[in-house]
Amino acid sequence: ASLELGPYSHFMQKEIYEQPKALSDTIEAVLDAGFAMQLFGENAEALLPKLTGVKIIACGTSYYAGLTAKYWIESIAGVQCDVEIASEYRYRNAWADPQHLVVTISQSGETLDTMEALKYAKERGHQYALSICNVRESAIPRASELVFYTRAGAEIGVASTKAFTTQLVALFTLAVTLGKVRGRVSAEQEAGYLDDLRHLPGSVQHALNLEPQIKAWADKFAAKDHALFLGRGLHYPIALEGALKLKEISYIHAEAYPAGELKHGPLALVDSAMPVVVIAPNDSLLEKVKSNMQEVRARGGELFVFADADSHFSESEGVHVIRTPRHVGVLSPVVHAIPVQILAYHAALARGTDVDKPRNLAKSVTVE
Ligand code: G6P
Repeated sequence: ASLELGPYSHFMQKEIYEQPKALSDTIEAVLDAGFAMQLFGENAEALLPKLTGVKIIACGTSYYAGLTAKYWIESIAGVQCDVEIASEYRYRNAWADPQHLVVTISQSGETLDTMEALKYAKERGHQYALSICNVRESAIPRASELVFYTRAGAEIGVASTKAFTTQLVALFTLAVTLGKVRGRVSAEQEAGYLDDLRHLPGSVQHALNLEPQIKAWADKFAAKDHALFLGRGLHYPIALEGALKLKEISYIHAEAYPAGELKHGPLALVDSAMPVVVIAPNDSLLEKVKSNMQEVRARGGELFVFADADSHFSESEGVHVIRTPRHVGVLSPVVHAIPVQILAYHAALARGTDVDKPRNLAKSVTVE
């Protein structure tokens, strides 16, 4: 294993650091072809123009990629999108519109619940499915009409990292492509989105360089029993993913909330023993997030804020700030996934857990 690991201590660490490359590899075909339907397979030109909606189905981290995609698909493509947890969807009498594209997201392509949910969607009347998958010729892409392979390379750490960020760029590509098909993306906007993709690996590299500062936070977290993650809009799913990573590998209880929902429950939990992580880049909801943060401070909660330079936060009593790369527009969730991965990784190291093989969890869940 040490040969494969090179300079890294764990596969998870290696995979976190491989993200600029994994993203460049995944984006390469898009930069070459533009947001072209053929990126999704031979049948795409025949199928994509007919679609009137999207239903995303996945588990775990892949499900959170789906939640992020909903924002992109509805705002960029102007298409209705719902996101389903596979193990829930397959056991309810779900309403199906044959014109809605089923999109499964799976790193392994073998997750049983996702595979069964795909079959169930077909039984319910969905006609077409797109698989976003990291493993070529695995079960789920084989059962799908359309496929987009992420090019993250083998992911060995049980907790998904590079598969997640490459799934995000695949889904962003889908959103822009659908937007083009529907005449909602101008040539100028398309060029802008391509530019955003082109600059993404560089911004992710910047985020990786924050490791020493994030490690200092993680050492504080390691002594805590609970943590709360907050975000809004596009960054709410990143808060969810941050909480999931922390739970999975450090065994610290963590939950995530959309910050506007604080006052409907979790605010009752806030005190000085509960660190509150906030994903707060300069987007349209920043002012709202700032007032949510004041609600936390007023209850004695300690804030750990990931904010870009344009967010204009400064450190103060009980407010710690790490500056993420300059705001990168709609791809900002991809960049902000990095610091929460690193936070979980170092909290786990500080607690001495088995980072690559957390207790009770499996990389690929092929049983129910
Ligand atoms: C397991 C892994 C997670 C992963 C989930 C879905 O729970 O530990 O990291 O997100 O399965 O896996 P998939 O291969 O379908 O993306």
